[in-house]
Amino acid sequence: MRHLMSPLDFTVEELEQLFDLANDIEHNMDKYAHACSGKKLATCFYEPSTRTRLSFESAMLNLGGSVIGFSDANSSSAAKGESVSDTIRVISCFADICAMRHPKEGAPMVAASRSAIPVINAGDGGHQHPTQTLTDLLTIRSLKGRLGNFTIGLCGDLKFGRTVHSLINALVRYQGIRFIFISPEELKVPDYITDMLKEKHIPYEEVIRLEEIMPRLDFLYMTRVQKERFFNEEDYVRLKDFYILNREKMKLAKKDMLILHPLPRVNEISVEVDDDPRAAYFRQVQYGVYVRMALILTLLEINV
Ligand code: CP
Repeated sequence: MRHLMSPLDFTVEELEQLFDLANDIEHNMDKYAHACSGKKLATCFYEPSTRTRLSFESAMLNLGGSVIGFSDANSSSAAKGESVSDTIRVISCFADICAMRHPKEGAPMVAASRSAIPVINAGDGGHQHPTQTLTDLLTIRSLKGRLGNFTIGLCGDLKFGRTVHSLINALVRYQGIRFIFISPEELKVPDYITDMLKEKHIPYEEVIRLEEIMPRLDFLYMTRVQKERFFNEEDYVRLKDFYILNREKMKLAKKDMLILHPLPRVNEISVEVDDDPRAAYFRQVQYGVYVRMALILTLLEINV
């Protein structure tokens, strides 16, 4: 039995197979409509979510399966003090596969160690968000035709943004990736990530101003400032609107640069940018459904 805790749990070759399957699903949805008939997905979300939970549920329903779960820890027995280990043993009696989001880093890993069914980490604290990374990689591969040889700017809250940490970890396995980290001093990417990049001799730069590096980017990965991870409101208020991508700044970008964002967006991308053909963040959400369908099939070892 296999779980997904980090994007690195899959080799590059396995990811290629997963993305091929996701692209086949994209173009042949009917073929997969009954693939999970009789199977149940449990979504155990101890933290708020719109995309991840609903795209998992949509993915399972598209595959002909069913969905159970909770979207709020307070509506589960966690509110009475039940441990994640006990909850997953119980969920194992009800479902065939589980997607879990938790505010505590490592909680899905604890669940996986006690589970009788595959567990998918749907985001754990500021640590990892592997299915967002699979979504990001599939979007890049589908829209650019390759995963490698590009310059990607990651902008915003690089300290707390788990999607950023997961994506960097995954991209270092491809050739010719150059990173540009754009953040205020207080929200810089953690040292363990820059140490890893130095060790692997992967080029990166850290800058504060978005405008100065815009013309060099093939992708711009925008992120919101993670309000829920701040210890005080004052710091959040000071930093929340540090970057606002607008039409004026987009004039500095390459004609084929793509903007990605894991969403939700707060103010960091002005809505006027949504009509720009380079804005790929809503297409990215759609790829999230295809890749989660492919992941469910892969972890349940269902061949169509
Ligand atoms: N990208 C993402 O994780 O969105 P949600 O928090 O809405 O699931």
